[in-house]
Amino acid sequence: MSYKVGYFVGSLSSTSINRVLSKALIRVAPDDLEFTEIPIGDLALYSPDHDADYPAEARALKDAIGASDAILFVTPEYNRSIPGALKNAIDWASRPWGENSFDHMPTAVIGASIGVIGTAVAQQSLRAVLAFCNTRHMTAPEAYIHFTEDVFHDDGTVTKPDTEEFLRAYMMEFRDHIQRVLTVLPRK
Ligand code: FNR
Repeated sequence: MSYKVGYFVGSLSSTSINRVLSKALIRVAPDDLEFTEIPIGDLALYSPDHDADYPAEARALKDAIGASDAILFVTPEYNRSIPGALKNAIDWASRPWGENSFDHMPTAVIGASIGVIGTAVAQQSLRAVLAFCNTRHMTAPEAYIHFTEDVFHDDGTVTKPDTEEFLRAYMMEFRDHIQRVLTVLPRK
């Protein structure tokens, strides 16, 4: 049994350290996880005015989430919360009312920062959003990554064995979390 994991990178930066982290996570993840990035950069700002007729980019977003068994959020911290682009994507996916794409979805969050608290505050903010969206969120382990260029290389290589092992264990826990949730709540 393999699981399809859709993942969001919460940054629109062409030099995103969180995209580098996503490469590292995919590299160390168990073989039975298949990853597809769900892009957020082309979405207009959400308004309920669109609910009657979602634009193509938003339909693609909801289709991609619908095709996933689980969702991984890899996000920076912006001003002690999540970037607006990521919140906007979540708002699109959560609507129209009654068609919340995240309902019962296994989720996990991880993030990298150049600051030492490693996106901890943003992740708490995101957990509150995901709770309201009725996801089945992995509460432990938590993963607050302090990013330094000597440890994380652009191709996803991790030069510090302890860090690589931590990321590997995190992804194994996520895999087990997905399996537990889908045993009780199989995707339709
Ligand atoms: C930041 N940064 C930042 N870092 C942090 O640890 N806590 C914070 O609240 C913020 N706030 C913040 C706001 C804005 C608008 C920017 C542009 C940056 C720094 C941030 O960690 C750094 O820019 C990372 O490189 C962002 O991740 P990506 O975009 O490279 O993946």
